[in-house]
Amino acid sequence: MCGIVGYIGKGSASDIIIDGLSKLEYRGYDSAGVAIHNGLNIEVEKHKGRLDVLASELEKNPIEGSLGIGHTRWATHGEPSDANSHPHLNNDKSLAVVHNGIIENYVELKEELIGEGSEFLSQTDTEVLPHLISKYNKGNLLDAVMEAVTHVRGSYAIGVISKNSPGELVAARKDSPLIVGVGKEEFFIASDIPAVLKYTRDVIFIENDEIIHIKDNKIKIYDKDKKEVEKEIFKVTWDIEAASKGGYDFYMDKEIHEQPTVIKDTIERRLNPEGDIVLDNINITKEQLKDIKKIFIVACGTAYHAGVLGKHAIEKLMRVPVIVDIASEFRYGENFVDENSLVILVSQSGETADTLAALRNAKEKGARVLSVTNVVGSSIARESDDVFYTWAGPEISVASTKAYTTQIVSLYMIALDFAIKAGTIDKETYKNIIDNMLKLPECVQSVLDKSESIKDIAKSMINKNNAFYLGRGADFSLSQEGALKLKEISYIHAEAFAAGELKHGTIALIEEGTPVVAVSTQDTLLEKMVSNVQEVKARGAFVISIAKEGNNLIEGVSDRVIYIPKISDFLAPVVAVVPMQILAYHVSALKGLDVDKPRNLAKSVTVE
Ligand code: M6R
Repeated sequence: MCGIVGYIGKGSASDIIIDGLSKLEYRGYDSAGVAIHNGLNIEVEKHKGRLDVLASELEKNPIEGSLGIGHTRWATHGEPSDANSHPHLNNDKSLAVVHNGIIENYVELKEELIGEGSEFLSQTDTEVLPHLISKYNKGNLLDAVMEAVTHVRGSYAIGVISKNSPGELVAARKDSPLIVGVGKEEFFIASDIPAVLKYTRDVIFIENDEIIHIKDNKIKIYDKDKKEVEKEIFKVTWDIEAASKGGYDFYMDKEIHEQPTVIKDTIERRLNPEGDIVLDNINITKEQLKDIKKIFIVACGTAYHAGVLGKHAIEKLMRVPVIVDIASEFRYGENFVDENSLVILVSQSGETADTLAALRNAKEKGARVLSVTNVVGSSIARESDDVFYTWAGPEISVASTKAYTTQIVSLYMIALDFAIKAGTIDKETYKNIIDNMLKLPECVQSVLDKSESIKDIAKSMINKNNAFYLGRGADFSLSQEGALKLKEISYIHAEAFAAGELKHGTIALIEEGTPVVAVSTQDTLLEKMVSNVQEVKARGAFVISIAKEGNNLIEGVSDRVIYIPKISDFLAPVVAVVPMQILAYHVSALKGLDVDKPRNLAKSVTVE
């Protein structure tokens, strides 16, 4: 989704903004632009295409100035084009605005503004903003923005500059992420922390309906009633290195290889010296657990797939049924959430619009809300009653990998902690699972060491148009994640099926050479899977099996087997997903695709 960056200080706004936008590229975009105050006027440079296009134009025609706003646009209203790129201006070009989000009532606002003489140059919803702010601008930019946003429905993070105020930057937020970086005699606004990290570690998280006013080297933040609010400055502890490629060709490869470390961090940081789980930001007592009658897990995409494994874990350890739902379905459906419900939201970014809406829906119904997220201070984290932070570090590649495995581990730890508190497992089982979880980093590493042989398998897939993934139980959920990984970055159509469902229709699709990835890590279901693999093999499929070492049964019926170390059925998913991530990565890289920024996708889906 779109990224915004703004700068006010003494440095070169254009250089700083381009650099900041480059750190937001992971969000996905199709055009980029800047508006810089050159001391007299606002100069705009904006282009369809990658940031490099904009950067090279700015190299040819530099714009001097220490105040500016910049934007990477992910098209929603209107095609990717120079005209639709941000920033957008009002008629006399005295105001420039960048925007991330969607203005839902833009059609009516646009008609009204056209009736009042505004001329529109783009098809975007955003363009109503400079005209609207201009309409209310009676010489005070802050007041004008404050008034304008009261007429807007939808979501926004905006940055605004005015020709008449060379030392003033105004920004506002509603349902789209926005942070402020506080430097020495300089301030930054941005959609995400990596954009400012080169310049400062001091960050302020902006809440919904807050308005930022930076002028005369001072920052003030107001709520929607125009009351000044005190904000805490948060110190970012992670390094910019954690958000750079570190020698890998793609972030995805780097992030896949970080999994042993981040899984270890996620687990070990939650264990006390006795080796028991301590969940810092979760304050659900034994008594409160007894009052929880329904548990829901709600998320989108990969996080949803982690949620399904969370369901398996909670049901197995706590012996209570869990409903897992896709956030965009949950928020509009009759979900039966009430004050005796615990709703667990899973989100890497903590900003996904549908997940956030599901959270608010659950809170309105009186449920207790626990989030599992990777981003400290994200909207979902802040609005939840309890939070479990995954320790995955910044995940830049659009395809989620390390966030997924740490989400599963986190949900398992929550399940273990709740189960021991609720008395549904004994201490021995609890200790035994924790001991085995501590072996996960080593097991994942042993799969990473097979990357080259998995690359060989990938070569056989690059010219295929379809692939199928099969599994039973937890392996079915894993198959869905494996298929999502392949399709989103390699553009090969991939579908996952519960292996037992094959003969109810899907098997008709199998033909000579169709790649089938069969996930067979559940000992209790192995023989059933062997039969399913035989069925597809007999119809010409090229079968790539993922199985535990020692499960030789599968070898006889597969074309290739990728073995994972022997580990319990319960923990196997955390390891078994890794060969599927590596496979998808190699297929995409071998096809020469932009692995980290797949077409049409954005890292952080902050609009509905
Ligand atoms: O930030 P979130 O975890 O809430 O994002 C949810 C999905 O958009 C995300 O998991 C998406 O499916 C992945 N990028 C796919 O790899």
